[in-house]
Amino acid sequence: MDPDDHVCLCFHVSLRKLRNYIARENPPVPSRIADCLGAGTGCRWCVPFLVRLHDQHRAGEPMDLPVSPTEYAARRARYRKTGERETPDGDPGTTPTDDSPDGSPGGSPDG
Ligand code: FES
Repeated sequence: MDPDDHVCLCFHVSLRKLRNYIARENPPVPSRIADCLGAGTGCRWCVPFLVRLHDQHRAGEPMDLPVSPTEYAARRARYRKTGERETPDGDPGTTPTDDSPDGSPGGSPDG
């Protein structure tokens, strides 16, 4: 994914904006990434990817998502149609729920 590609397709939040926000704010939990233009608070498709970016940052690794924007959008379209996530290689492979204890965006307001 390139820096100007959108990670949160609902709110048009690019990878570049997310990288800058995470680097600047150093959010203690992934749910705080929602403060970056509402990322992750719409259909929730991007939440596992936001968690991955957060994990990469916390680990001191480069923040990157190894998926093409075309494939990413197609997978989101299938997710919105079926409500199910695919977990091919390179996919975060997590399916947080609204009450997820991992602090993913859209979870509890104090998380
Ligand atoms: S793609 Fe981010 S909330 Fe829908």
